[in-house]
Amino acid sequence: MLDEVAVKRYVVPLREGGSLPGLVEAEDLASYVMKFTGAGQGRKTLVAEVVCGRLARALGFRVPELVALDLDPVIGLGEPDPEVQGLIKASGGTNLGMRYLSGALGFDPLAYGVDPLEAGRVVWFDALINNVDRSWRNPNMLVWHGDLWLIDHGASMIWHHNWRGAPAWADKPYDASDHALARYAPDIAAAAAELAPRVTEAMLAEAVADVPDVWLTDEPGFDSPDAVRRAYVETLHARVATIHERIALPEGGADQARPSAPGWLTPGAGR
Ligand SMILES: Nc1ncnc2c1ncn2[C@@H]1O[C@H](COP(=O)(O)OP(=O)(O)OP(=O)(O)O)[C@@H](O)[C@H]1O
Ligand SMILES: [Mg+2]
Repeated sequence: MLDEVAVKRYVVPLREGGSLPGLVEAEDLASYVMKFTGAGQGRKTLVAEVVCGRLARALGFRVPELVALDLDPVIGLGEPDPEVQGLIKASGGTNLGMRYLSGALGFDPLAYGVDPLEAGRVVWFDALINNVDRSWRNPNMLVWHGDLWLIDHGASMIWHHNWRGAPAWADKPYDASDHALARYAPDIAAAAAELAPRVTEAMLAEAVADVPDVWLTDEPGFDSPDAVRRAYVETLHARVATIHERIALPEGGADQARPSAPGWLTPGAGR
């Protein structure tokens, strides 16, 4: 289970995020990025954050600590922005918190190098969870104290929006041509050899166990939260063994995915 902490104060919206995540302070005196159950993207975004965030951690990736944030909507009463106030009003109860990495920078491919092994591990992981939201336009990675951190797994596991079609996802390819790390010559084979044997059903079950029941109840086609949990485990596990064979990297090699530095930053340019 995720640790549960109560929200004490809503601080400020993080305007970059499409789902209008907010920075909050909690009763444990820590700051969290809060993702709201009442956001337009719905609770499945939060389920994906927990399943994939926990899985990523278990595989050794850096992911901010996740907690369940208990929100009393009264906190929103003094909020001047009606959009934020509406979101808080619609999100009483359990929301998702991610430990705020104060001072973290957005991943910048021109400023941060990633070795092929690390790039391969991230691309392989994103292929497993079918993450469509780690492109070079929107990398959803942060650099904090010199290390790469993964955030924002809310747009993964598209199959959970239509469970009847989920079994077919076992054999579907993953298009990594736009992936933020495609340019670093990701060593997919090495990543698969290292990570795939570790993604057992037991390990997936542990990750899925952390999803709060309230986000899994009344899922059409399932009679209990645990039945939904089993569906996540089965669908992910069916992809593990062979997903590396179906990862499509940019045609013409890694350089195709490399946005270049502007001329004024390139030594000798313009001369
Ligand atoms: N744990 C964190 N620590 C510091 N900054 C964070 C953290 N999580 C998110 N951010 C910042 O907030 C932004 C929005 O967060 P995130 O990408 O998770 O939200 P989103 O609404 O899902 O965004 P998107 O528009 O990509 O769908 C990030 O790009 C990053 O700048
Ligand atoms: Mg994002």
